[in-house]
Amino acid sequence: MIRKALASALLAGFGIYGAQALAADNEVNIYSARHYQTDEALYGNFTKQTGIKVNRIEAKEDELLERIRNEGANSPADVFIAVDASRLANADEMGIFAPVKSKLLEERIPAHLRADNWFSYSTRARVIVYNKDMVKAEQAQTYEGLADPALKGMVCTRSGSHPYNLSLGAALVQHDGAAKTEEWAKGIVANFARAPKGGDTDQIKAVAAGECGIAIANSYYLARLMNSTKPDDQAVVAKITPVWPNQKSWGTHINVSGAGMLKTSPNKAAAVKFLEYLASDEAQVYFADGNNEWPVVASVKVSNPALDKLGEFKADTLPIQKLADTVGEAQKIFDRAGYR
Ligand SMILES: [Fe+2]
Repeated sequence: MIRKALASALLAGFGIYGAQALAADNEVNIYSARHYQTDEALYGNFTKQTGIKVNRIEAKEDELLERIRNEGANSPADVFIAVDASRLANADEMGIFAPVKSKLLEERIPAHLRADNWFSYSTRARVIVYNKDMVKAEQAQTYEGLADPALKGMVCTRSGSHPYNLSLGAALVQHDGAAKTEEWAKGIVANFARAPKGGDTDQIKAVAAGECGIAIANSYYLARLMNSTKPDDQAVVAKITPVWPNQKSWGTHINVSGAGMLKTSPNKAAAVKFLEYLASDEAQVYFADGNNEWPVVASVKVSNPALDKLGEFKADTLPIQKLADTVGEAQKIFDRAGYR
C-alpha cells in the first residue's frame, strides 16, 4: 500500500517533472497582454540566441488570467506579461507566480522595480497636460493640485477604477496618506469637466479641444501623439502643454510593464532564461521603445524623439511592490469618494 502510494507520488511528481525538464530547453509559452510591432524581433531574437521556441498567446489581462485559472495545474503558461503594477498585483494575488531568484536580474533591474514575484521591464510616467488658454502653469504642477477648487469644471480623467488611476491613487496613499488621498479623490470628482469616459488619449484630445482644461495621461500616449505625423495629432500636440508632475516633492508617478514566471510553469528553466533575456540590452530596447516607454536597465538608452523632447525629470522611486500592495486600498478610497 505504502509502496503503491510512493510509486504514484513518483509518477505524479518526479516522473512528470522529468518529462517537463526535457521539454525545458525546447520551448517557452508566453501569455502576454502586451503586443507591439517590435514583438516579432523581440521574440525572434530570443529564439535565435537560445534555440528556445516561443509560443505566444496574446489577449487582454483578464482573459489570460481567466484562462490560467481554468487551466489550473495543467496550464502550459510559463511566463505572464502585463502592463501596470495594479494588474500584476491582481495576478500575484491569484497566486499564479513563483518567485524567481536570478543574480542577473538583480544586477540589471533596480531594486525598487523588482516585485516579490515579478519583475518590471519598462517604465511609463503619469503626466499632466493642460490647455494654457484655460489653466495657468502654476495650477498644473502637481497631482495634488488637480483637486484644488480653483480648477472646478476643468479636470478630465479616464475612469477612476482604471488600473492606471488606481496605481496613481496607491502612490498618493503612500506619499500623502489615506485621509489626504480620499480628500483628493473627492476634489477630483468635484472638479470634473465631464464624467470620466474614454482612454488617456481621449483626455489629451479633450484638453486640446478645450472641453477640459487639464488632464492626466500616461507618457506613452503623449509620446505617440508627439511622434505621429498625422496633421490631426500634430494639431492636438500644438494645443497642449505637458508637465512632469511633483518635481518639487516626491517626483512623477511611475508605472511599469512587467512579467513573472508561473508556479505551474512546465518549462521553468526556459522561463527564467526568457525573463533574463527581457533584461538584456537588445530586448530592453525593443520592449521599451515599442511602446514609447523607458527601459528599466539604466545603461540601456533609447532614442525616442518625443521622450527626448520632453526631457529629464524626477521620477518617483517608490518600491513597485509597495505600490502593488496599496492598489486595493486606493480602490476602496476611490469608491468611497465616488471616483469611478
Ligand atoms: Fe495603456
